[in-house]
Amino acid sequence: MELQGFPFPANSPEPGACIRIERPEEGLAVVILDPPHRSLAVLDAPLLRDLDAAISDLESDPGLKGVVFAGREPLKFAAGADIEGISSIANEHDAYAIVTYVHKLFQRIENLRAKTVAAIGGPVPGGAYELSLSCNLIVAADDPKTRIGLPETQLGILPGWGGSHRLPERLGIPAALDAIMTGRLLPARRAWKKGMIDRLTYPHLLHQIAADLAMGREKCKPRRRKGMAKWLMDRNPLARAVVRRSVMKTVMARTNGKYPAAEAALDVVLGSPGRSREQAATIEAEAVAKLATGSVCKSLVSIFFASEAAKKLGRGSEDFRPRAFSHTSVIGGGIMGGGIASLFASKGMDTRLIDLSRDALDHAQAQHIFDIEKKAKRRRMTRDKAEAAIDRLTVSESMNGIANADIVIEAVAEVMGVKRKILAAAAERVSDQCLLATNTSSLSVTEMAKGLPHPERVIGMHFFNPVAKMPLVEIVRGAETSEEAVTEIAALATRCGKTPVVVKDVAGFLVNRLLGPYLDEAVRLFLAGVDPARIDHLMVDFGMPMGPLRLLDEVGLDIAEHAAASLHEAYGERMTPSEGIASLKSEERLGAKTGKGFYKHGGKKGKKPQLCSDLKRFQESTKARDFSDEQIVERMVLAMVNEAARCLEEGVVANRQQLDLATVFGTGFAPFRGGLMRYAESLGWSEVVAKLDRIAHERDVALRLGGLAKFKPAEWLRQQVARQESAAPSAAAPAPPTTPAPEA
Ligand code: NAI
Repeated sequence: MELQGFPFPANSPEPGACIRIERPEEGLAVVILDPPHRSLAVLDAPLLRDLDAAISDLESDPGLKGVVFAGREPLKFAAGADIEGISSIANEHDAYAIVTYVHKLFQRIENLRAKTVAAIGGPVPGGAYELSLSCNLIVAADDPKTRIGLPETQLGILPGWGGSHRLPERLGIPAALDAIMTGRLLPARRAWKKGMIDRLTYPHLLHQIAADLAMGREKCKPRRRKGMAKWLMDRNPLARAVVRRSVMKTVMARTNGKYPAAEAALDVVLGSPGRSREQAATIEAEAVAKLATGSVCKSLVSIFFASEAAKKLGRGSEDFRPRAFSHTSVIGGGIMGGGIASLFASKGMDTRLIDLSRDALDHAQAQHIFDIEKKAKRRRMTRDKAEAAIDRLTVSESMNGIANADIVIEAVAEVMGVKRKILAAAAERVSDQCLLATNTSSLSVTEMAKGLPHPERVIGMHFFNPVAKMPLVEIVRGAETSEEAVTEIAALATRCGKTPVVVKDVAGFLVNRLLGPYLDEAVRLFLAGVDPARIDHLMVDFGMPMGPLRLLDEVGLDIAEHAAASLHEAYGERMTPSEGIASLKSEERLGAKTGKGFYKHGGKKGKKPQLCSDLKRFQESTKARDFSDEQIVERMVLAMVNEAARCLEEGVVANRQQLDLATVFGTGFAPFRGGLMRYAESLGWSEVVAKLDRIAHERDVALRLGGLAKFKPAEWLRQQVARQESAAPSAAAPAPPTTPAPEA
């Protein structure tokens, strides 16, 4: 067969180098995925090419009784399909051809007369698991490193190498749908319980057991769901329609219809029973080809790569490897400090939490125990691990017991003098290697480091609220912060399951600096008479997790006002805050924490807050200017885009990919749009500049809304336009005629 359209990586090895076939005994072939250009096998073009040749070899062996597919080590099977390759597929035709090629390949495995066994372990996502599904049996290494599943929908596609029809066949529709729609990677034991694999064994026995199973020396019944329920579901279109309706409801609530992969996966999975293998494969291939070349998949893949790159920040270099911290100390046990301390303890570090207030400590400790117990009850943590995590957090009203800390992080009140004093006191008690970090959301790290004995060890580690949920950590590099400190904090953030983005020590750092103009514009629109429900609804529809007015309530109007004032002080006119918040604040309507702001909070648990009915009296004009929906969204989003451009201009963040990542993980910016600047680029740079220019010069609107200075296009944007124009064929030159010009 010929593999077309799937790009070969630059370092592709010679044909035959990626797969080894060993024949340890007569009748047995062990096919080992062992590509020299990868530390963990990836199903990329060279590996598929060599797998094709290996299968031909097996097909032509009449004496073959058993075949084992294995990785080069028990915990190194394969990391799935080559995502980079997939993301560069240019058109549906190529995507379809690649998927069909792999379908045929895996079908040939399924058709082998010999008994086939997949011996899997370590990460086994997507394509790697789909390869296993084409074998008669799957045996997995029972090890914490083993993670099995089909995460494709998370990348905007669906399991396209047989998973969308082989998994329903194995598990039945409801369980397969659950696995595919959530995209979760399961530990070996849970995968076994669900029937995703047939047998578990110790990693060191994996290859031997697989060989014994393939040769019939060991017996194991394939775990396929059978019985009445499966038959009913598979054969009964009515039952499937009911399932579709109910799953669709959940999908829509989660995706707001913005992620086509979920809906497509639902249709493909529900459509597979009762069809021949070939028909099911065709339906799957058509769906994947469309999704893989669509903009949502490209956006999600770009975020995936940016987050993979972020994870590497903490790896260090040949010359410097970050320490794995064992002792941490957190000063300030409020909302943030309590959350950070709990996180550190749950990730295996002995953690000392210090606060002046006994109440704060008691509350933080109780919350930690509650959260860990919840994880244990939901079986996300074993009982002994949960108990160890609970024990690892100790609390104290004094700074005693921090001498052996690898890092001290402060999360006390946002006052420079207090923070400095605390870090100075900590510095006296800890070793010269201990990092001194601050969770400040707005103060200068450089300023804070002044006068401390080792300013190179002072660094910002900015978690977002709530700590347990928000995936981003901004690492703030002060003027004297060392590269080693940055690497160690990145390693710590990654170990805590967070995504680190390194930012410059500027007011608002990156995320809050971008949110400033966005929230300001939302308040100005509100004041000018635009219905608040409309403002929030439009932004949710755009893809934000909540509307800007609701976000203001969650942040707290007092905090937002304080943040806006410090942005104004730092950046001048373009960050002049509107006065809208002051009037709500003057009535003690601070948002969620006081039960009232733009919204009424504190209703029944799980019930969404409702917009207050008296908001009209805060609007300066009740006559809403005739803004279209598009204009409203444009004003808020472009205000952010323009500030982001300034951040790139000033090198606040290393590159656009990291900026996009920070917007998705820090502000919840629509992931399907791939982040703020990717979205801006999709509009076209010249279009963005033209729109900003127009908004910045709208005199009549200026009278009503004010705050137009933030729309003056940033130089960086103009440069993108200039670059694009110089790269494109001259606009002035006439386009070559596509049809002969009519004669005069
Ligand atoms: P908080 O008011 O909930 O907690 C502060 C805690 O620090 C209190 O328990 C207080 O008793 C304690 N404290 C004050 N002075 C102390 C001292 N000298 N020694 C020991 N403990 C002391 O404040 P929150 O919200 O947790 O904020 C803490 C820091 O995190 C601030 O710098 C804030 O800007 C930052 N931050 C806050 C976010 C939020 O959404 N709340 C988000 C990101 C950062």
